[in-house]
Amino acid sequence: MKLPVDHYHFPTIASTNNWAKANARHLNPERLTIVTASEQTAGRGRHERQWISPIGVNLYVSYCLFVPQHRKDISNIPQVIALTTADFICKNDLKASLKWPNDVLIESKKVGGVLCDTTPVDDKVCVIVGLGLNVNMPPSALQQLEKPATSLAVEAGHTFDLDTIAEELQTTIRHALELFLKQGFPPFLARFREALIHRLGDTMRFHIGSDVMQGSFHSINDDGTLNLILDDSIQKFNSGEIV
Ligand code: BTN
Repeated sequence: MKLPVDHYHFPTIASTNNWAKANARHLNPERLTIVTASEQTAGRGRHERQWISPIGVNLYVSYCLFVPQHRKDISNIPQVIALTTADFICKNDLKASLKWPNDVLIESKKVGGVLCDTTPVDDKVCVIVGLGLNVNMPPSALQQLEKPATSLAVEAGHTFDLDTIAEELQTTIRHALELFLKQGFPPFLARFREALIHRLGDTMRFHIGSDVMQGSFHSINDDGTLNLILDDSIQKFNSGEIV
């Protein structure tokens, strides 16, 4: 099944995810809606953080997909997008990996982040997956970010044509979502596990709400959730942040 695309582009917007959420009812549920912006004035990251979104250097995009409410694998959609982005970066001769649940890294530094919002529309859920990918952000701007971050340009040593990257990534992500809608997460699972930086026994500090726990990585379940060894028992998490 080919997923037709509607594309909205804004030169400037507060947040592509916010726009998509506010307008979800007006989007076509039979199509993939892609919302892009050249800059965001109030870009949002996970855990109520800001996503710094300067003009013309990076990709700010929201992929909006309608799925039946009963689907149990909605939380895998952001993982599919993060994985597809990491694989796309690898095809551009850089070594990208993932930090659970869906951060995209190069050499342990964050190059891309994914934020998932959902909103019910009639009998479906509109899943809005926002992707911020640092493409041509220079070192001076990256240094001002809270956590170690990088861009494709810094890693490759040359800048990229933003429109070409956006177009190619869009095609790759559309194909991945077509496969996901038909077959769910299983076709992505092995590659998702492999792309993660975590290996059995790695020490991990894990934030869940305001609590910080220390444990070690055990495994990824078939549904993409995380198993950590905490106090000698294996505990399963479906959200949280590894620090
Ligand atoms: C993260 O914290 O890692 C997630 C960052 C997600 C940023 C993207 S940029 C496009 C979309 N619109 C937003 O406001 N946030 C997401």
